[in-house]
Amino acid sequence: MSNTVKKKTRKTPTKTMAKAKAKPAVSVVTDAAAPAAAANDKTNAALVARRDAAVARGVASAAPVYADHAENAELWDVEGNRYVDFAGGIAVLNTGHRHPKVVAAAKAQEDHYTHTSFQVVPYEPYVALAEKLNALAPGDHAKKSLLVTTGAEAVENAVKIARAATGRPGVIAFTGGYHGRTLLTLGMTGKVSPYKKDVGPFPSDIFRAPFPSLRDGITVQDALTGLQNLFLTDAQPERIACIIIEPVLGEGGYTPVPFEMMTALRDICDQHGIMLIADEIQAGFGRTGTWFAIEHSGVVPDLITVAKSMAGGYPIAGVIGRAEVMDAVIPGGLGGTYGGNPVACAAALAAIEAIEEEGLLARSTALGETFRARFAEVGARVAPYRMWDIRGLGAMLAIEFVTDFETATPDAALTKAVVAHALKRGLILLACGMHGNALRIMVPLTASDAIIDEGIAIFEEALIAAMAEQQA
Ligand SMILES: Cc1ncc(COP(=O)(O)O)c(C=O)c1O
Repeated sequence: MSNTVKKKTRKTPTKTMAKAKAKPAVSVVTDAAAPAAAANDKTNAALVARRDAAVARGVASAAPVYADHAENAELWDVEGNRYVDFAGGIAVLNTGHRHPKVVAAAKAQEDHYTHTSFQVVPYEPYVALAEKLNALAPGDHAKKSLLVTTGAEAVENAVKIARAATGRPGVIAFTGGYHGRTLLTLGMTGKVSPYKKDVGPFPSDIFRAPFPSLRDGITVQDALTGLQNLFLTDAQPERIACIIIEPVLGEGGYTPVPFEMMTALRDICDQHGIMLIADEIQAGFGRTGTWFAIEHSGVVPDLITVAKSMAGGYPIAGVIGRAEVMDAVIPGGLGGTYGGNPVACAAALAAIEAIEEEGLLARSTALGETFRARFAEVGARVAPYRMWDIRGLGAMLAIEFVTDFETATPDAALTKAVVAHALKRGLILLACGMHGNALRIMVPLTASDAIIDEGIAIFEEALIAAMAEQQA
């Protein structure tokens, strides 16, 4: 799962790399004190100024450019600059921007009705999507699903269901885990800045166990010992409703859970009557080469949370689980006005069909291999000893940058500079990780080989520029 780049031969950065075809993007300076620009000025700079005046600063935007239109793995901003999109709106676009099938299904649904609220007048697309999710999720047992709108809402509901099913309050989450920005999910999210800073207190009965970490020298055995110690010190196992884990850490740095750890968690949950929840919100829907990332380990969870690439760009999320567990909450205890919106349901059914018809699971595996090989080659050639790790599962892949290979000291500054240089050259990248020093690849699985090549060429150019800047 992990390709530590250990090539020892030092080489000077090449200057003869392929030129990126994208028109360079403008660089825009954000000036919060600038007066709001006129509403008819649609330049990136004007929109940045209007945004700064009108939008809460807590909603940070990674790129100071504004979208005009997008197609598959390409996006154009309001000034006509073109970008290759390796971020996919934070792992939402495994089927690409505006997949024709997804857009057609959403439009067709809009011609019938856009909202009735499933709790008032139900509709077939909700039922059909639940059936599909039940069929796709791992395990031979009977399953049921709940549809909601956002990932955080799915996680909150998974916890509610686990509590109702077990009659217990406690939740165990992991270091570096990310489960959302609502208050319950923030309590479960294992990273202070920026998510939890200044907005506590968080709900009680949430406990944190260590996640295995090569960087921190935490082995699977250490992590499991930490969990057992947690049972002894703070978290009485008979009072724990669920253990929630991302099969591949998302925001935490694209680190897969070692399979033996997942198996051990299943055993521990079985031993204590605890529900195992796989948070597949970022790792699901083909990103890792299987429908759900947990399938790689062979472990069957009790509950799964889903969202993001499930619907190719439409806001919908869900919880899939053992039928008897899902039915633990009384009628009326789950739901919400918009949960399982019919347009989003239609889009999700179409996106799932596209993943099936276009062989995107196999494409993810192949893309993962391509990225690993290309990144290792680029790293050895233009950034020796600076890419400490290339890791992930399938096309859910990240590169980790360090200042020093032996100590693996995180280099968030280099990572940030690569992202900025890439954007100027027409490539949208996004960082992640506890130390902000991992670059994650979330390119649509529908992207052509030519687009992938173009993106990697721009990445190489950006890396050379960022390294040169650091050495200047
Ligand atoms: C693993 C995981 N869980 C939960 C969430 C929260 O999803 P949302 O942002 O839709 O609330 C995310 C979002 O990135 C995520 O990656």
